Amino acid sequence: MTAPRITVNGTEAPISPAAPHTTVLDFLRERGLTGTKEGCAEGECGACAILVARPGTNEPTDWVAVNACLLPAAALDGQEVVTSEGLATAGASGTPGTLHPVQEEMAVRGGSQCGYCTPGFVCSMAAEYYRPDRCAHADPAEGAGPGHGPSAEGTDPEHGPNGFDLHALSGNLCRCTGYRPIRDAAFAVGAPADEDPLARRRAQSPPAPVATEYVHEGSAFLRRNTLDETLWLLRERPDAVVVAGSTDWGVEVNIRARRADCVIAVDRLPELRELRVGSDAIEIGAALTLTEIERRLDGQVPLLAELFPQFASRLIRNGATLGGNLGTGSPIGDSPPVLLALDASVVLAGADGERQVPLAEYFTGYRRSVRRPGELIRAVRVPLPLSPVVAFHKIAKRRFDDISSVAVAFALDVEDGIVRKARIGLGGVAATPIRALTTEEALEGRPWTAETVEAAARVLRTEGTPMNDQRASAAYRSAMLGQSLLKLYAQTTEAVTS
Ligand code: FES
Ligand code: FES
Repeated sequence: MTAPRITVNGTEAPISPAAPHTTVLDFLRERGLTGTKEGCAEGECGACAILVARPGTNEPTDWVAVNACLLPAAALDGQEVVTSEGLATAGASGTPGTLHPVQEEMAVRGGSQCGYCTPGFVCSMAAEYYRPDRCAHADPAEGAGPGHGPSAEGTDPEHGPNGFDLHALSGNLCRCTGYRPIRDAAFAVGAPADEDPLARRRAQSPPAPVATEYVHEGSAFLRRNTLDETLWLLRERPDAVVVAGSTDWGVEVNIRARRADCVIAVDRLPELRELRVGSDAIEIGAALTLTEIERRLDGQVPLLAELFPQFASRLIRNGATLGGNLGTGSPIGDSPPVLLALDASVVLAGADGERQVPLAEYFTGYRRSVRRPGELIRAVRVPLPLSPVVAFHKIAKRRFDDISSVAVAFALDVEDGIVRKARIGLGGVAATPIRALTTEEALEGRPWTAETVEAAARVLRTEGTPMNDQRASAAYRSAMLGQSLLKLYAQTTEAVTS
């Protein structure tokens, strides 16, 4: 094992002497790369966004934007990172001092005022700039140009005529510029030039994962190459914190000052990164990021396709995993209600073998589950066929990049006007994510009519034990449950219900 190091803007940088909990953000700033900013230190503002070379969906490598404030630097041992400083010199001409095309557009279109958010915006924007299937729709000579925004053409306001998906910026906040000039910049970029080094880099493989043994002043960050090795390590270190994208653990470290004697990374384990579509189930590796799942499934599971855009932000989805969302056991995680509605199971791997647990039996209490010490979530299995009537309703104060007050997922089989099967997953109304079993009973075997739905909505309002907290009152949460079912009915029929 070589000493842990990261390639930053083309130059290798040793991680030592940083402590194992040191974030990539602090590591970069300590090295003088202060373009990467700290705003919130909890994954909500995007001021810290950087680019990481990751396995690609359509090319060997994708440039993926992540929150540097959440990731331990040791998690990027052996990996390649580009910061806003590196973008400038890695642009089309490669000449130091030359702005990258996304920086140029942000500058000339007034997308930056105080500039604090700008490096994060340009990194998120650059990741989208280099997304291969966006480039297929972009004009290599120039972007959309002023006055050619989507509103001028009356098309989807969230996608530019250059293929730019504005959701790429959903994790970046700006306090002063206003988003219209930033959108103008995003919709003005063209395709990367042929000689652009970061565009060319996509054709080569990303850095392979490396085993890491980083021990410093009594604390350790460890990574193994295989699942078996990791399970044995977990046996030796049952006290270890297991991290994948570190989107949850990073918040604990930064905001609650939590520290661990031992952190074990599982996000690059090949056994946790497979996606198999079989005849009776889809098995999704626990360490695939939500972005990878979204792009690889490409709408094959419509309920998951509804979930992804509403799950935090693109920056978070580039690191967050289903294994992490289930592993933390949060009652307000967004994936459990959806996976409950899909009748999913969790595949748990231990040193003695694997077992499969229905998700409905997985949670046992607040942030507790049937997962035993030494076990890892290897995959999530979604049985086939899928129910055709689905919806995911996330009720939150903001449309994106927010925590849900209540989340409701529906998956119904309606045949010949009769509800044959109903699965309803709820988040935010109990100490754990739950199935709305009484409401499911109130629907199954009954006609899919306004009368049935209104009666079932009254039942749904009584499910769980919602609480009053800073996000919502218990009464509001209950009311939203009922409204969700009425909304689903309204969406699936011509009937107007109230
Ligand atoms: Fe705000 Fe990282 S500093 S997301
Ligand atoms: Fe000031 Fe965005 S330009 S926060």
